[in-house]
Amino acid sequence: MTHEPFEKNSIILLIGILIMVSIGGLVQIAPLFWVDSTIEKVKGMRPYTPLEQAGRDIYVREGCYTCHSQMIRTLRDEVERYGHYSLAAESMYDHPFQWGSKRTGPDLARVGGKYSDAWQREHLINPRSVVPESIMPGYPWLAKSKLDYSKVTKNLSTLRLVGVPYSDEMIAAAKADIEAQVNPDSKGVKALLARYPKAKVGNFDGNAADVTELDAVIAYLQMLGTLVDFASFDASGPNLR
Ligand code: HEC
Repeated sequence: MTHEPFEKNSIILLIGILIMVSIGGLVQIAPLFWVDSTIEKVKGMRPYTPLEQAGRDIYVREGCYTCHSQMIRTLRDEVERYGHYSLAAESMYDHPFQWGSKRTGPDLARVGGKYSDAWQREHLINPRSVVPESIMPGYPWLAKSKLDYSKVTKNLSTLRLVGVPYSDEMIAAAKADIEAQVNPDSKGVKALLARYPKAKVGNFDGNAADVTELDAVIAYLQMLGTLVDFASFDASGPNLR
């Protein structure tokens, strides 16, 4: 009959409830103060190259996220359509993340490598030229606008402040890395690839003279979902580092 006072007196019952709820809360919340991160690091993830990051900023500026999500759910239909479900680590360097839930167009989390640069170019300039039934708007000005990367050093430094691990070397070389990534013949390509493994180098917009906004957006799209090697990824742990 030890619980009789709890059942007869609402104040004692209330105090009892508060004690139990606090214990439950502490067990759930306290460990989070001692773990470094709730996101497991996965092999292959690296900060975006300065060109990919610039493309990502244009993606946000143009509102591509109003029609496209970037998160593949762990549901069978999604995995069959888009590929391996998204890992938390895959958006750990996104500020802000682009997960979303609005899908007027398809999810883009793994669109990298799905089409050629030329397809991406035609599609962004006029989607109906490659997908006749498309309702996506065209973005022809991207091809005509030179990429403004005068502030790229500051951009990367700011991202470092919020936790993206850009090194001093990466920040110092940011402008050179942008120019190297759009020019496969340039001397800077080797250093770029050493800093950013698996970066795709190419004349993305088909115009070798300028670095355009279209170069940046295509470099970004072609990287999406390609950094983690899912042929060797094992969610049970050995590939986490
Ligand atoms: C009004 C909604 C809308 C907006 C805004 C939009 N898209 Fe789309 N997008 C679509 C639709 C619908 C499709 C599917 C038809 C097609 O392929 O054109 C699509 C397809 C795509 C595809 C091909 C995906 C695949 O797997 O086949 C890419 C890449 C893409 N969009 C990129 C972008 C980018 C980059 C932007 C911003 C510059 C953007 N979209 C803005 C609606 C949109």
